[in-house]
Amino acid sequence: MDKKVKTIGVLTSGGDAPGMNAAVRSIARTALHSGIRVKGIYKGFAGLLANQMEDLTLRSVSNKLQSGGTFLFSARCPEFKDDKGVEHGKFNCIAAGIDGLIVCGGDGSFRGARDLSLKGIPCIGVPCTIDNDIACSDYTIGFDTAVNTVLQSIDRLRDTSQSHDRCSVVEVMGRNCGDIALHSAVCCGAVSVLIPEIEFDLQRDVIEKMRRTLHTGKNHFIVIVSEGVTNKRGSDGKLLTASRIAKYIEKEAGVESRVTVIGHVQRGGSPSARDRVVASQMGYYAATLLKQGIGNRVVAMKDNKVVDYDILEGLAMTKEVDEELFRVANEVSI
Ligand code: ADP
Ligand code: F6P
Repeated sequence: MDKKVKTIGVLTSGGDAPGMNAAVRSIARTALHSGIRVKGIYKGFAGLLANQMEDLTLRSVSNKLQSGGTFLFSARCPEFKDDKGVEHGKFNCIAAGIDGLIVCGGDGSFRGARDLSLKGIPCIGVPCTIDNDIACSDYTIGFDTAVNTVLQSIDRLRDTSQSHDRCSVVEVMGRNCGDIALHSAVCCGAVSVLIPEIEFDLQRDVIEKMRRTLHTGKNHFIVIVSEGVTNKRGSDGKLLTASRIAKYIEKEAGVESRVTVIGHVQRGGSPSARDRVVASQMGYYAATLLKQGIGNRVVAMKDNKVVDYDILEGLAMTKEVDEELFRVANEVSI
């Protein structure tokens, strides 16, 4: 970017995540503090195409830090996957005087940011998704709150499972990423956790483990299944749903089982302290990059430091599962 940045845009896109509001507030305040105008674009890329935007002020972002959801609203916008849609987005940015755009969302939204950057509108991605599935970042805003929501539910399930000598099979979110499941398993003492990144065998990894544990006097169990496992077909062509797993446990281990799908409650709620801090740091960092004329970057957390990567480079990275944490989850839950 060679001209002085006078106006930036900000939008939230894809699945919402607790902490998106804290990120937008931080972006707006950082830019406004430097005399840069900030346009809040409603409903993600859909709002950009529909010209739904208005100026954010110091006071219009007040009282947002602690609220869940996104006051800018979010949307999925299939038109933006098309070159015509991106051209239209570029046109609307230029017409609104937007010199650079900050996109708060997941990797799908970053692809939109990449395409708009390639057309000459400098964009910065800020990782906001409960799934923690952005490869270039150790952390995504919303993850901590979602895991805390899951563990509050599972702690309650444990009470009732214990009263009835039952097994609770709990499905948690994470489209293709097992991080919510894995971290929740460690926090809740799940006997088994099934995630898409690590191959498992129901007999070996669930039933035999339950049987061994039954011998030591334990009589209630938590089994966590990631959404990423339940949405893939097995060799029999069928989906391995939480219900199928529960029936299998009843038949093979003889333990009465109940299923809980936690669902979208994981996406809501007031952001945790961690999410508020990271959202404020990343928002500040993203606005500072654009202010300096730097675009086409993704903000990320690496070894507890906020850093940035080229969007193309960031999107090309692949995420590694934390095998050590998986070992901890399994060995501590005997
Ligand atoms: P997330 O950002 O949470 O991963 P999605 O994958 O649903 O969520 O993507 C959100 C939006 O980002 C899409 O509705 C679309 O507008 C935009 N997007 C996703 N993939 C692409 C792509 N390949 N090219 C351009 N835009 C995309
Ligand atoms: O990406 C966040 C996420 O909640 C995933 O865990 C889940 O697969 C998906 O979004 C659900 O999206 P929707 O908003 O379409 O129900």
